[in-house]
Amino acid sequence: MPYPEKCMHTSGATDSVWVHKLPYTSIPQFPPLDRDLTDDVDTCIIGCGIAGIHVAYELVRRGRGVVMLEARDALAGESGRTSGHLGNDLDDGYVQIAKKHGEAGARVAAESHAWARDRVGEIARELGVECEYRKLVAYDISQYGVGSGEGYEGEMEELRGEAEMQRGLGIETRFDENLTVRGWNGKPDQRGGMVVENQATFHPTRYLAGVLTWLKRQPNFRCYTRTRVMSIKETGVELLGVGHKSVTIETEAGHTVKAARAVEATCVPLQKLSVVAELEFHRTYCIAVRVPRGSVEDCLLYDNADAYKYVRLTECDDKDDYLVVGGCDHKVGQEETTPRFAELEQWTRERFTQAGTVDYRWSGQIFDPVDYMAFIGKNQGNDNIYIVTGDSGDGLTHGVLAGRLIADEIEGKENKWASLYNPKRLGSVVKTLPSMIKHDLQINTQYKRFLQSDIKDIEDLAPGCGGVLNLAASKPLAVYKDDDGTVRKFSAVCPHLHGVLSWNDAEKSFDCPVHGSRFSKDGICIIGPAKRNLHPESKTGAREQASIKAM
Ligand SMILES: Cc1cc2nc3c(=O)[nH]c(=O)nc-3n(C[C@H](O)[C@H](O)[C@H](O)COP(=O)(O)OP(=O)(O)OC[C@H]3O[C@@H](n4cnc5c(N)ncnc54)[C@H](O)[C@@H]3O)c2cc1C
Ligand code: FES
Repeated sequence: MPYPEKCMHTSGATDSVWVHKLPYTSIPQFPPLDRDLTDDVDTCIIGCGIAGIHVAYELVRRGRGVVMLEARDALAGESGRTSGHLGNDLDDGYVQIAKKHGEAGARVAAESHAWARDRVGEIARELGVECEYRKLVAYDISQYGVGSGEGYEGEMEELRGEAEMQRGLGIETRFDENLTVRGWNGKPDQRGGMVVENQATFHPTRYLAGVLTWLKRQPNFRCYTRTRVMSIKETGVELLGVGHKSVTIETEAGHTVKAARAVEATCVPLQKLSVVAELEFHRTYCIAVRVPRGSVEDCLLYDNADAYKYVRLTECDDKDDYLVVGGCDHKVGQEETTPRFAELEQWTRERFTQAGTVDYRWSGQIFDPVDYMAFIGKNQGNDNIYIVTGDSGDGLTHGVLAGRLIADEIEGKENKWASLYNPKRLGSVVKTLPSMIKHDLQINTQYKRFLQSDIKDIEDLAPGCGGVLNLAASKPLAVYKDDDGTVRKFSAVCPHLHGVLSWNDAEKSFDCPVHGSRFSKDGICIIGPAKRNLHPESKTGAREQASIKAM
């Protein structure tokens, strides 16, 4: 991919396995917004990932007018870097979900995610999108080996309890003491675990590109890419149904969109705090390894570790499948990144001895809500601004679900799932206060980075590397040295709430350890809650940013 456009196509220096079958150039393209839109816009959706596309799809199908604004290219966010499971065997487990939301809440979670899993298959069929969508079984196993003692026994017990809980909620789940996975032929023996039928997987970008292609043909859909939204404000007054409120959206290029309502489908909302304070931010890693075609069972496999590892398959070529192995999550901007790929590879080779070359290595970001369920619906304190955020590793089904929940709420149609996902909910969040306070204290300690310097001298930076230079009596600088030795400097102070950034070597980006905003090596904002790019502190930095914006 020719430099410097990469940060417009995807949120990192690496490419995910999905580009193997669908290069960036095959994703539908749209023009940037070059004028004000003040003509009767019904709904303005900000963000062109799975959530934005699904909200658009459901609204357009119901005859509503949609304008979509995307800061970079379509699918440049986490939806292009996902790993593609769709299911209701949710990451956090229903035993935990029920502790925060009661059994009734857990049942809604199970039912609504099953709907979302099936909705993708339905839409793919309806629109004739070839996207490898298929139903398959999921296995949840221990991270420890059989006979290894308390760790293994404890996790088997947990999985038995989870299987019983899931069965009670109507999911087709059982516990199998002797569960094995066809193709797992290496030494570690992690037999036994939970079997969940009727889960699904797909090729996410082929699916989403297919839906976007359909949307592009609809007269009530308009999309503008490379159009960064800088502010979203409710204007007007509405009291007891009298008066009229609308939303004014302003873009970086100075254009205004006036709409009856706006939906922030930006992965993390573009606000200073509110629900942002109810999320934890993690980096997560994936590799795609060749294995002989058919040599590994087509299933979803997860171990029970806290930063768990998981396995699934996608098409490669006539000879091989790709085994997609992921996990190794950690807090954004707080740990080494590159060694995670080696850890995933070693784990894979120990268990699947037929593993061949690793063709893709990539990472992305997930946002874990403190009470496990995404925030979908009207934003706190707003009547006409909606948000979708908090994917918890199940962001694909959460995104699909957002389409129905938000379309129903806009139409005033009752939806029995809505209260579980309501961003204004309090009960389950209050139950989580102790861990929220702990998390807040931990992220606040990240302001210690004002006193830390990762590099002592720009001379020491190798080409293709970056770092934060924070010398006494000067402000912290994010410095990147290009392969040809050109140095670019930007402010290392995050435009969101002034955290000091860290260098992410795996993705060649500057990441904020406070609330997870990220910036490309050219200082372009690639993940919020920040909206602004990093302030250039050298002519080369300013030139680079200007040239990307001009493309
Ligand atoms: C490695 C990895 C594996 C994962 N695996 C799974 C999985 O198997 N199953 C699952 O369910 N989930 C998974 N997830 C989570 C899931 O991929 C995400 O939750 C989901 O794709 C998020 O979709 P989204 O539409 O909310 O956000 P995104 O796809 O990130 O889209 C948001 C868009 O908003 C745009 N935007 C941001 N700010 C602005 C602005 N100011 N103006 C205009 N546009 C803006 C961004 O550029 C971006 O394109 C995984 C995530 C990762 C990283
Ligand atoms: S993301 Fe909030 S301070 Fe950086």
